Amino acid sequence: MIIVLGDLLADLSLRIEAFPVQAGGMQRVSYFELGPGGAANTGIAAARLGLSVGHLGEIGDDRAGRWIVEDLKAEGVDVSEVIMAPRATTAVAGVIVDASGEPAYLGYPGRQYLPSLPDAWATRIQKAEALFADGWIDHTRQADLILEGLQIARKASVPAFFDPGPGNPALDNGWQSEACRRATVVLATEDEAQRISGRSDPMESAHALLALGPELVVIKRGVAGCFLVRKDEVYLAGGYPVEARDTTGAGDSLDAAVIDGFLRRLSLESMGALANAVGAAKVQKLGTGRNVPTRDEVRAVLQRFGVTDTGLLRD
Ligand SMILES: Nc1ncnc2c1ncn2[C@@H]1O[C@H](COP(=O)(O)OP(=O)(O)OP(=O)(O)O)[C@@H](O)[C@H]1O
Ligand SMILES: [Mg+2]
Repeated sequence: MIIVLGDLLADLSLRIEAFPVQAGGMQRVSYFELGPGGAANTGIAAARLGLSVGHLGEIGDDRAGRWIVEDLKAEGVDVSEVIMAPRATTAVAGVIVDASGEPAYLGYPGRQYLPSLPDAWATRIQKAEALFADGWIDHTRQADLILEGLQIARKASVPAFFDPGPGNPALDNGWQSEACRRATVVLATEDEAQRISGRSDPMESAHALLALGPELVVIKRGVAGCFLVRKDEVYLAGGYPVEARDTTGAGDSLDAAVIDGFLRRLSLESMGALANAVGAAKVQKLGTGRNVPTRDEVRAVLQRFGVTDTGLLRD
């Protein structure tokens, strides 16, 4: 089972006519959805690619928490170790997009109290096929949980995937370098790789991340696709030009493809093609969570762009 650790929150997604949203203004909303977002996007995308997935996280006993659990269950994601704590409240992200497809985020951190990684979670990580965590935290305590989870995976030789994401501007994101050190695979955008490595050149920053210890670094480049770097090997995977309606969650979805490809030991070329097809399938759709791409939608992108390798997707 692939274990997703942390960043368990609900997305409230809205598509508006145009930014800015102003006091006194009135806009028509053409899309509205409530459901899991954040790291759950990766979990759902992975489940849809055919992987068995479980999510470990803390939510409140509230409506947002119930939406998350219900939707994850419907996707076949194991939520048996999700902690619904009586005093906690579920984090919610408002995600607003206009016709440009680039989101504006409004973060409600909620309240979570977990002081350390529960034993039951540690056991799940030790037995996992892979661990996935991202770098979004609302409280510094959550960074310690992620670092602990990555350490447990490392000790148990469970491949660990870490996506730093943009980082929380309100907090110190220095812990992410240590997370990259403990991970087997690091997945970041060019900006994120630059931020962590301190190098301005994308290829140099990817190599600097690799020097921290992971086996593979994947750099996400929006419409340009991604590149994959491991020792003595670099592969540039060109993106698939599609109509981008909403890029939210494209990186999270791509992460799932890389987990899938890495576990099946696909070549960097195949992994890159699958990853970009999942990203391109996502950006054509509005929303996150249950609106990440299906396997058929990924297959349609591969077919449209003439990728004939039938082994890219699991049967
Ligand atoms: N406009 C686009 N057209 C086609 N593919 C795209 C487009 N934007 C993104 N992608 C695909 O999705 C992948 C991830 O997108 P991006 O580089 O924006 O990551 P990200 O910023 O981490 O996304 P997020 O954090 O919102 O999930 C890209 O590597 C590419 O494969
Ligand atoms: Mg991202």
